[in-house]
Amino acid sequence: MLSERMLKALNEQITKELFSAYFYLGIAAYFKELGFEGFATWMEAQAEEEFGHAIRIYDYVFERGGSVELEKIEKPKQDFASPLKAFEAVYLHEVGVTESIYKLVDIAEEEKDRATYQFLQWFVEEQVEEEATAKAIVDKLKIIGDNPHGLFMLDRELGARAPKFRVMLLQPTE
Ligand code: FEO
Repeated sequence: MLSERMLKALNEQITKELFSAYFYLGIAAYFKELGFEGFATWMEAQAEEEFGHAIRIYDYVFERGGSVELEKIEKPKQDFASPLKAFEAVYLHEVGVTESIYKLVDIAEEEKDRATYQFLQWFVEEQVEEEATAKAIVDKLKIIGDNPHGLFMLDRELGARAPKFRVMLLQPTE
């Protein structure tokens, strides 16, 4: 059984992950308006992944006999000064998510909740990857600067990451 404190923190994390999905979708819309289809696709795929993170915790809370309580999601930012600024915002966002996952791990330890501690290890590893991926793109964008050819190439590279829902939408229906 989850302690009240653990349950509250997990529920807060569900809302944070749902906000993350919204955050990425907002940046996807920003890139779509600019015509950077590849960057937009990458952000959409990330939004989808964030929804998956929320569902992972949602399922876990039910598995442990807890109740899920969804909160209001704030409006995301959709305006950035440049692709670099948008990806810098992504990196900073992920650093914040890592902090919040670490707080959950601390609570699991304090509550002596071994199962939740174990469950959270997937998120700890995921955050290492999320931060590293965002940082690598920020570094590339810094090298590219205002070079249109470089931006075009990176846009094409990142566009290779197709969100599953887009693939599903493209499949013929009966
Ligand atoms: Fe769900 Fe990007 O962390």
